[in-house]
Amino acid sequence: MHLSQQQSHDWIASRRSVYPKMFTNNDVSKDEVMALLDVAKWAPTHKLTQPWNFKVFMHGGKMRLADQLGLFLKEEKGETELTKAKSEKMRMNVSQSGAVVAIVMKRDVEQRVPQIEEICAVACAVQNIAIHARSMGLGGYWSTGACTNYPSTRNLLELNPNDLHLGWYFLGKCDGEQKAPLNRKNSEEFVEIIS
Ligand SMILES: Cc1cc2nc3c(=O)[nH]c(=O)nc-3n(C[C@H](O)[C@H](O)[C@H](O)COP(=O)(O)O)c2cc1C
Repeated sequence: MHLSQQQSHDWIASRRSVYPKMFTNNDVSKDEVMALLDVAKWAPTHKLTQPWNFKVFMHGGKMRLADQLGLFLKEEKGETELTKAKSEKMRMNVSQSGAVVAIVMKRDVEQRVPQIEEICAVACAVQNIAIHARSMGLGGYWSTGACTNYPSTRNLLELNPNDLHLGWYFLGKCDGEQKAPLNRKNSEEFVEIIS
């Protein structure tokens, strides 16, 4: 197997966040979810702690999740027009998705590496997922919008005190063209070569 430099660049550069309203449908099977999330394990991980952990909500489970997150939002922020609208949007996102994946950093019990490294490793794992998804006719996006790491969300996800909830990956079927990329800085603006 060999990807040319151009093919590799283009595959990475053409990854886009795919939002639930853009999904073709929400018909995602458990096998597809398992095959997609499997690529997480190839992320780099200091001391091989492999701190990524995913709880996947599908079918009735995802709708129960939407109900629970609606309640958590109300508990934390009160019942206002804004929180009602946020709950509604989240419910819509959930119902349009085939699976909602809780992205968790599961802390190594011995805490052998600093927390920041474990968060970085989970982010690498999610990038693997995002890059692989398109080859499977899937799309998704990482959201930190809905009750991320709230005490009640942590409780629901049965996290240990040193674990972190880093957000949700909304997943659905996606075919065809991705949306146009948002502007990115040129590498001259973020790379400094010191020689
Ligand atoms: C850690 C993280 C959290 C994010 N949270 C949100 C979010 O809460 N809502 C949202 O609309 N997009 C969220 N995004 C997606 C970004 O908005 C998106 O990556 C950005 O607009 C660039 O678009 P692209 O991914 O299509 O290149 C998040 C991305 C990351 C990496």
